[in-house]
Amino acid sequence: MSSVLKTDAMRDVIESDRAHVWHHLAQHKILETVDPRIYVEGRGMRLWDAVGREYLDAVSGGVWTVNVGYGRESIANAVRDQLIKMNYFSNAAGSVPGSLYAKRLIEKMPGLSRVYFGNSGSEANEKVFKMVRQMAHRHHGGRKYKILYRERDYHGTTITTLSAGGQPQRSAQYGPLTPGFVAVPHCLEYRSQWGAIENYGERAADAIEEVILREGPDTVGAICLEPVTAGGGVITPPQGYWERVQDICRRYNILLHIDEVVCGVGRTGKWFGYQHYGIKPDFVTMAKGVASGYAAIACTVTTEAVFDQFKDDPSDPLSYFRDISTFGGCAGGPAAALENMRIIEDEGLLENTVLMGHRLVANLRELQSRHAVIGDVRGLGLFCGAELVADRDTRAPVEEKKVQAVLADCLSNGVIIGATNRSLEGLNNTLCLSPALIATPADIDNITAAIDAALGRVFG
Ligand SMILES: Cc1ncc(COP(=O)(O)O)c(C=O)c1O
Repeated sequence: MSSVLKTDAMRDVIESDRAHVWHHLAQHKILETVDPRIYVEGRGMRLWDAVGREYLDAVSGGVWTVNVGYGRESIANAVRDQLIKMNYFSNAAGSVPGSLYAKRLIEKMPGLSRVYFGNSGSEANEKVFKMVRQMAHRHHGGRKYKILYRERDYHGTTITTLSAGGQPQRSAQYGPLTPGFVAVPHCLEYRSQWGAIENYGERAADAIEEVILREGPDTVGAICLEPVTAGGGVITPPQGYWERVQDICRRYNILLHIDEVVCGVGRTGKWFGYQHYGIKPDFVTMAKGVASGYAAIACTVTTEAVFDQFKDDPSDPLSYFRDISTFGGCAGGPAAALENMRIIEDEGLLENTVLMGHRLVANLRELQSRHAVIGDVRGLGLFCGAELVADRDTRAPVEEKKVQAVLADCLSNGVIIGATNRSLEGLNNTLCLSPALIATPADIDNITAAIDAALGRVFG
């Protein structure tokens, strides 16, 4: 590490943090006696903290974000050059990097044609909800206003995206929530709602149709789904699921909104998670990996057919999409995203993700053969989960504090891993791994070796 602040200066940083910073998703009582963790430098897959300790990051910045790894000077330079030339004007006007990035992105998303810029995944999803509601008002007499979401999925932190969230521990105590959002059953076969059946994927899709019929198809405007559920337990969809979901959407004229905030931009080994399943979405939202955390940028992408509905009556002053995102106009975002995309292409990171993803899953399955506590291993690309159970036959989840003990053990041995957290009561029991797409075989092996040792120590 090249630039750790001197010890005294770092002590000030730590005390100021303790005194004034309110950390995300954190119970702060513990920080009265334990120092807050502060990372001061990153290179590739590695991080250094305030006291100079080195870590291997298996979760890309904690929340599956830093897809191309830390310390990318070329992204920093692209952002710097752009900021000096033209940092900001509201996106009511265009920008050079915004225009160029939209074109490059759309080249990777056949069937889609319009990009709306924002600055967080929550915001990108809310844009879709607003578009769906406005289309319902303008074209369906206000009726097709309901938006379906799936149990265990997450779409953001605002009150309305929480209303579309299938993780009750995230929305508890924040109600009343926004009306008009309706849950459909999850599709995690390991925790099948219908026992051990042959065609679980089709059954789980049919469950969506049942909800649509119960609600009335003419009241449902859209369904919002993660291609692979992330924070709800890394749920790879069962066979036969997506084909039938697409079919159901077509049958009832329901728009398909795919939330690629985690899966998008390479995480699963293709540009977008939905591209594994032959889906034709009407909306795709993305954020985290778009610029790997080098700038805040989110995109809401849609079709020309949707876009056309917002310019069909210029004489009506309310007919267009009356929405703005101040920071959606920051030109540093698309400048970073362009360079991020170039890196993924030039360094062959999609191919690496496929190869290293196979290695990660294979390693986890090998651990599963030796540790009874691993009940299920799931994953696609560099996006994997291992569900921990107290009993393989009953699939009873392990206690949450044991899951946290595994994380703490890995951390104390210099490897940062994640787990489902405050998502579902009693089911925050899946270890989550999402290393940067640059991971090498040695990185993958080091990650699983740390988990191997931690499981041994925590579960004996
Ligand atoms: C699938 C999914 N959608 C949306 C979001 C919200 O993104 P943001 O935190 O940028 O608002 C997240 C964040 O973790 C996510 O995992």
